Amino acid sequence: MCGIVGYVGQPGAVDREYYALDVVLEGLRRLEYRGYDSAGVAVVAEGAVEHRKKAGKVAALDAELEASPLPHSILGIGHTRWATHGGPTDPNAHPHVVDNGRLAVVHNGIIENFSELRSELSQKGYNFVSDTDTEVAATLLADHYNKDAARDLTVAMRLTSQRLEGAFTLLAVHADHEDRIVAARRNSPLVIGLGEHENFLGSDVSGFIDYTKQAVEMGNDQIVTITAEGYEITDFEGNRAEGRPFEVKWDAAAAEKGGFSSFMDKEIHDQPAAVRDTLLGRLDEKGRLSLDEVHIDESVLRSVDKIVVIACGTAAYAGQVARYAIEHWCRIPTEVELAHEFRYRDPIVNEKTLVVALSQSGETMDTLMAIRHAREQGAKVVAICNTNGSSIPRESDASLYTHAGPEIAVASTKAFLAQITAAYLLGLYLAQLRGNMYADEIADVLDELQKMPEKIQEVIDAEEQVKKLGTDMSTSSSVLFLGRHVGFPVALEGALKLKEIAYIHAEGFAAGELKHGPIALIEEGQPVFVIVPSPRGRDSLHSKVVSNIQEIRARGAITIVIAEEGDESVKDYANHVITVPQAPTLLQPLLATVPLQVFACALAGAKGYDVDQPRNLAKSVTVE
Ligand code: G6P
Repeated sequence: MCGIVGYVGQPGAVDREYYALDVVLEGLRRLEYRGYDSAGVAVVAEGAVEHRKKAGKVAALDAELEASPLPHSILGIGHTRWATHGGPTDPNAHPHVVDNGRLAVVHNGIIENFSELRSELSQKGYNFVSDTDTEVAATLLADHYNKDAARDLTVAMRLTSQRLEGAFTLLAVHADHEDRIVAARRNSPLVIGLGEHENFLGSDVSGFIDYTKQAVEMGNDQIVTITAEGYEITDFEGNRAEGRPFEVKWDAAAAEKGGFSSFMDKEIHDQPAAVRDTLLGRLDEKGRLSLDEVHIDESVLRSVDKIVVIACGTAAYAGQVARYAIEHWCRIPTEVELAHEFRYRDPIVNEKTLVVALSQSGETMDTLMAIRHAREQGAKVVAICNTNGSSIPRESDASLYTHAGPEIAVASTKAFLAQITAAYLLGLYLAQLRGNMYADEIADVLDELQKMPEKIQEVIDAEEQVKKLGTDMSTSSSVLFLGRHVGFPVALEGALKLKEIAYIHAEGFAAGELKHGPIALIEEGQPVFVIVPSPRGRDSLHSKVVSNIQEIRARGAITIVIAEEGDESVKDYANHVITVPQAPTLLQPLLATVPLQVFACALAGAKGYDVDQPRNLAKSVTVE
């Protein structure tokens, strides 16, 4: 999704080793993980705005800048675009420059009433060179600037924001004002970074993490004007507002690949730490689970009669895993719903419903809209999120942060394991509060959870076997995944990883469903992953999956079986066995998912694809 960076330095600070363009380009590179299809920058120098923009990656913009350099400047804005209105072309890239080349604007989001505004502005005599809603917003801004705002850029932004519907972060610079950026936000991310005699704006802190750790969170429907010496926030009516200062805990190194071939590879290896850190600090001195961040009244949590987990993509599969545990531990009926479907089916949600929103980014618009809907119906919302200060936790009644650290690769890995871990903690917390489990039962599960980081590490240490399989199977045109119980969402996640980064047909099935249709797909040489539950769990579950392996093997499938150490029963029917350490059935997803991630990463790598930035996908989808 679009990335935005802004920088204002001190006029005349020539002793600084960098100029606005350096900061902005570095920020755009850091924000590349959000996914984008074009990039652009604008600077203001000597009373003029100059800009360059290009379809493609930031590297294409770099080449353009080399061929046609921009003047040194202390004021600049930059943008990586993920096309919504109008295709990914040079003219549609941001910044959009209007007002006879004097006003440059970058934008993230969708302006819903743009066609109405466009006709209104066309009637006033304005012409448009792109198909974008952004150019309409920029033109409206120019119109206000030159008329009722009396050339005050902040006032013009306020008047413009009042007219816009939808979601937007807008940044504007004008040739008349070489010292400031004016920005507005509604339902779209924007954070302020504070330096010494310099200030920053970013879609998130990665946009300026190389320069400062001091940041300020803005509220919705607010405008900020930043100069080198300060910032001023107001609402859309012009009333002064306060931001929330915070210190960025990520260091720049955490956002680097750390010697791995890709961010995805690095993030797969981060998983023991992601789970360990998510478990940290959740117990009180008596060893009882205490979730400080869950500020919902205990009596409300005790009266909950239904849980609805809302999420999209990988997070929704984490929710599906968690459902098995939450229902089992808390005896509360639990549904998992894709956020974008939830709102439109008129769900039965009321004060006794607890909604759990799972989101790595905290900015997924579908999930945000779904929680707003749920709260309007009286439900309480707990957000399980990886990004501090993001919109979803901010708009929830309580939040439980996963501590996976920045996830840069578009395809989610460590966030998935951390989401399952956090959702399990929430399930145990509810069971403790409602008296569904004895203290020692909860302590046993927590003990097992504490052992998981080490076991995940063991799976990672044995990754060479899986990498080789991925490379050897790089010419496969289809891979299937089977699982049962908690292994079913793991199968879905394994298939999603392969679709996302290797662009091959992959599907996950509930193993029991095989005989009702999917078995017809099995032919000679069809690779099928099978996630086998622990033989120490319910025996019927295990033996049924072993029968499924026999059935598909007899029909020519190449079977790749993920089974627990010591499970001898699968050997005769498996072409390949990947073993994972022993763990309770409900915790097995934290182990069984890992080889599937490694497989997808290796297979896509062998095909020569960019595993971190797969085509057509965005890390954080901030439009509905
Ligand atoms: C996008 C990403 C997925 C991610 C999903 C939900 O589709 O490409 O990897 O799982 O959004 O994102 P969230 O940030 O809400 O977890």
